Amino acid sequence: MVTEDQVLKTLEGVNDPELGGNVVELGMITSVDITDAAVTIGLALTVAECPLRSQIEGDTQRRVEAMPGVDSVTINTTAMTSRQRSELMSVARRRVREIAEPTQVPPTTRVVAVASGKGGVGKSSISVNLAAGLANSGFKVGILDADIWGFSVPRMLGVEGKLSAASDSKLIEPALSNGVKVISTGLIIESEETALMWRGLMLSKALEQFLKQVEWGELDYLVIDMPPGTGDVQMALTRMLPQAEMLVVTTPQRAAQKVAVRVADMARRSHMPIIGVVENMTGDVFGTGGGELLSSDLGVPLLGIIPLDSSVVSGGDSGKPVVLEAGSGPAAAALEQLVANLVQALPPAQLETCTGRIAKLLGDLEDGAA
Ligand SMILES: Nc1ncnc2c1ncn2[C@@H]1O[C@H](COP(=O)(O)OP(=O)(O)OP(=O)(O)O)[C@@H](O)[C@H]1O
Ligand SMILES: [Mg+2]
Repeated sequence: MVTEDQVLKTLEGVNDPELGGNVVELGMITSVDITDAAVTIGLALTVAECPLRSQIEGDTQRRVEAMPGVDSVTINTTAMTSRQRSELMSVARRRVREIAEPTQVPPTTRVVAVASGKGGVGKSSISVNLAAGLANSGFKVGILDADIWGFSVPRMLGVEGKLSAASDSKLIEPALSNGVKVISTGLIIESEETALMWRGLMLSKALEQFLKQVEWGELDYLVIDMPPGTGDVQMALTRMLPQAEMLVVTTPQRAAQKVAVRVADMARRSHMPIIGVVENMTGDVFGTGGGELLSSDLGVPLLGIIPLDSSVVSGGDSGKPVVLEAGSGPAAAALEQLVANLVQALPPAQLETCTGRIAKLLGDLEDGAA
């Protein structure tokens, strides 16, 4: 059975993008009731009919449902009392004033960690196609190659050369490819000297540098190409980007399931929800059905089935993701579908819809104080 503390910890990953804080610290969680595997959450919103409502409710639902030992989640949404609102606004103000952004990735950015339990299943191929496809759909997208030693993102996106410092800061400027901001150790290790420097770093430290010292700017989505099967990178990621969610890649064979389940388990223990499963390399040779099996085991959607198709390999080798080459083969269409399904499952955070909200709340407070 889960505990209230565990539920609250998980809910720290749900952000109110407008107020720039998570729902727990903002005092928006008014109650957590646990009866066996059923969790009921009281959620108080600043204004009852804000369009952000469905986003915050959806995030809350998804994260708590993904916890081991939870079967059902009920959310009771209410509007805050004026007292609750003034408390919330003072927390929000304090946050803006005092708490520096822990990373350069905006809290509104949707973070998708592409992971699997074993190597070579197509994490990097899926990551670059997802990123390029999202950018092609008009979103602001970054890709972080968290496979520090086994990097393949630069080759697959056709970027080379060395990263440089952004002009007006000490931050590193990401490379740009097909509209995607790219960060990878492959773009940093050039001289013996820097290679040595990076070799001395732990994997999780390298990830930290990539999150804190890169000028990511505005991002709707950050795709993270995870290294095969390591736990420490996952843990570091959850600590620094609590909003991260995991996309699990699996092959069609049933043998792959055990490994994938292990990753899923790790995701849950580190409070990272699983957004869905992608079956890759589907075809006559490897069969089909593994993705479906895993998604039903995990109780998450199967967001894509990508056929075994040589255009994925040639796209990776030429630095032109196949998702951008419509009509080039069955994989391009399947990857496009994956992009669309992901956007539906994890829509970009809405920013503009309630812009008047804070101003109004501040106005109300000022009026109340007068
Ligand atoms: N759908 C596909 N059809 C054909 N080949 C594919 C497909 N997906 C990936 N590949 C090929 O399989 C190989 C492994 O893919 P990729 O490097 O993306 O896997 P990975 O999971 O990132 O591997 P690693 O664990 O080493 O990081 C690559 O040569 C890639 O081009
Ligand atoms: Mg890889």
